Amino acid sequence: MNAAATRNCLRAGMVGMGMIFDDTYRPFFERAHLEGLYDRRFADVDVKLVAVATRTGRRAERYRQSAGDRIYPFESFSGSAAVERMLQTELTFACVATPDNRHFEAAKKILQAGVHVLIEKPSVLSLQELDELVRLAERNKVLAKVVYHKLCDPDHKKLRTLFADGVLQHVNSGYCTLLEPKQISGEQFAEWITGRNPGTYVAVHYIKLIDFTFGGRLKTVMATGQRGIVGPADGGTWDSCQLRLVYQYDSGREAAFDIHTSWVTPDNFPGYVEQEVQFRFDNGVWNGHSRRRGVECTVEGKTPTELKISLNNHYNATFLEPWGERSQRGYGIEVIDRFAREVAYVEFGRDGDRTERLEKMRALHYNDLSADRQVVAAVQALEAILDRQQQGRPDCVVRVNDPRGGLVLYEPGRAEPEVLYGDPV
Ligand SMILES: NC(=O)c1ccc[n+]([C@@H]2O[C@H](COP(=O)([O-])OP(=O)(O)OC[C@H]3O[C@@H](n4cnc5c(N)ncnc54)[C@H](O)[C@@H]3O)[C@@H](O)[C@H]2O)c1
Repeated sequence: MNAAATRNCLRAGMVGMGMIFDDTYRPFFERAHLEGLYDRRFADVDVKLVAVATRTGRRAERYRQSAGDRIYPFESFSGSAAVERMLQTELTFACVATPDNRHFEAAKKILQAGVHVLIEKPSVLSLQELDELVRLAERNKVLAKVVYHKLCDPDHKKLRTLFADGVLQHVNSGYCTLLEPKQISGEQFAEWITGRNPGTYVAVHYIKLIDFTFGGRLKTVMATGQRGIVGPADGGTWDSCQLRLVYQYDSGREAAFDIHTSWVTPDNFPGYVEQEVQFRFDNGVWNGHSRRRGVECTVEGKTPTELKISLNNHYNATFLEPWGERSQRGYGIEVIDRFAREVAYVEFGRDGDRTERLEKMRALHYNDLSADRQVVAAVQALEAILDRQQQGRPDCVVRVNDPRGGLVLYEPGRAEPEVLYGDPV
């Protein structure tokens, strides 16, 4: 018998094949198709993208044509029962990269089928949805994980390392901004932008970074936003928003973080996706800026549209390697590779039994859905505050683990608060 016939195999599915599929999942699956995954803990494992589910099937078909033999010959399903049909192909894991408000329905079906799931950020939009997915994953003994690739950015790993080692001590406050070009809201997301906001879409990266890096208990969420470019000035589609989170730590001390996001920055802005953070500690200040990370490149007729001026070669970039090979690598792809390794370890690991291995992988808080509670709480609060603002009820505040419930919305001038989520966060 040849080696391929005896190798273990991860059979993968993909729901949604848009921008992020092309950036990160595609290079992961193409590399894994060629090289498999090897790790001493589970040996040599094949990874096959066996089936995909998308809304219309057009992008899947286009990809199949362009990829040729760089990818496994996957089956493509589209239309309303696409996910169910994809799940009939005996998958080991499936990834969900549909628009933010369509993660839950797909992830639920995947977990119900007893298949491991990896969900793009933001995992889901409410704690009620999170509870249901975590329950399903536990019942069906599979992993439910979420992608926050900024945790794998070497700069953010260094921030966390310095904090964990006590070099940077107690964070007091900070700000983060992420500004997306207009092209994202105007073209890329035109199909699903109505009623959405850039905070849920990208502030969530920084909510996770703050939550995971500094720990603590989320206490208060405040937010506001602006409209009038993507949609009408009194509508439910937001151009930009500003979120403030207050955390409390075991010492009893607090910290506040402001996260500003937009998806209406001019397309020719040199930062393209402009990202900046500053965290102030008792004994230090951390400054990070995407345009000061190192590289700015201008090419006549190509930058800043076809080629970016501020190249983020750490996230995801194509390279001619010194040894002659062409590659695409970066932390955006590494985070998916890690998840596939976690699944391979659960299914084919050589130590302990499957239950022990599953528990070990679930205990990884950087991506486990059960550890995403405070992030989802912040997103649910943000969405509720923006919704009330649209209804002409601005300036609401959400308190977390209040005597009245886990997430409680207070509106100025209204005596009775509204409980968004009853159980403790
Ligand atoms: N990690 C990151 O930095 C990052 C960057 C961009 C997007 N994202 C996340 O990825 C997700 C997708 O974003 P995108 O930029 O790829 O969007 P996109 O609009 O480019 O693509 C969405 C894809 O989902 C498919 N789709 C839509 N509804 C579907 C349904 N009901 N069932 C099956 N397929 C469906 C569409 O056919 C399309 O292929 C979002 O949750 C977004 O927040 C993450």
